Amino acid sequence: MNIRSSKKMIKVIKKVRAMQKLADLLRREGKTIGLVPTMGALHDGHLSLIKKCVKASDVTVLSVFVNRLQFGPKEDFGNYPRQFAMDKKLAADNGVDYIFAPSHEDFYNSDFSSFVDVEGVTKNLCGSARPGHFIGVATAVTKLFTAIKPHKAFFGEKDFQQFVTIKKLVADLNIDVKIYSGKIIREKNGLALSSRNAYLSDDERERALVLYRSLVEAKRLFIAGEKNALKIINNAVNSIESQEIEIDYVKIVDINSLADIKRIGEKALMAIAAKVGKTRLIDNIVLK
Ligand code: PAJ
Repeated sequence: MNIRSSKKMIKVIKKVRAMQKLADLLRREGKTIGLVPTMGALHDGHLSLIKKCVKASDVTVLSVFVNRLQFGPKEDFGNYPRQFAMDKKLAADNGVDYIFAPSHEDFYNSDFSSFVDVEGVTKNLCGSARPGHFIGVATAVTKLFTAIKPHKAFFGEKDFQQFVTIKKLVADLNIDVKIYSGKIIREKNGLALSSRNAYLSDDERERALVLYRSLVEAKRLFIAGEKNALKIINNAVNSIESQEIEIDYVKIVDINSLADIKRIGEKALMAIAAKVGKTRLIDNIVLK
């Protein structure tokens, strides 16, 4: 019988110390620990990372933690969708062994004052629009690594800048975790899956489709020979604004440094952040 397809008991761990003890035990047994960090409200984007992790690891740990530190004061921390019972079921059905779900107080001691700041790659794109966001992400992910002690960790390309930031973090701080990425999972109509899509009205959901469409059009222009970044950007801006969407940025950047580029060589990243109604959405495509 394929063990993976049998229903297994999933265990929820809430305390950092208990998680560390479990990780030590698993490591002593020679097990490969894989981690999928999330803020919950699981969708197929998360599940694709979980499936990758389950395939590549002996033990899969899913973290579910809405990390207050990465939200700005005016952002949606309070409203962020929380549906732990559903997440637990989805995790169990997809082969997760353990969920690490600490409370804020369990995770950050009351006099917490140490932060991880990955410079350079966090400056452009969402870094300038969301000051402090990547310090919050990098600090939380570092703490997830020291709590769960994974050999491997999986991140989605939907948050491309986050993925690049985490790669830089583990390289710079000698953290012994191999970072893997997963492709962007979309609805049939192209909309990138996001926990925040739950905020969209039917009309907003329809208008939001222009984000992916304009990325696909940009790729078409690039493949047809357009190498001038500004021309491609302006074309996307016009399409997006025609849907009365408030653009945060539309940029074409170097795929490694994430710095703006003017002329596209062999490969570049095009990234968009925009507000559809009150909901901030991001999406991207690799031009190559
Ligand atoms: P969250 O937004 O829950 O996303 C968890 C992981 O799922 C991230 O690696 C993200 O890139 C990936 N993901 C989200 N939507 C996706 C999609 N449509 N296709 C593929 N992957 C997708 O990102 C975070 O949480 C947090 O910042 C976290 C890393 C957990 C730190 O708090």
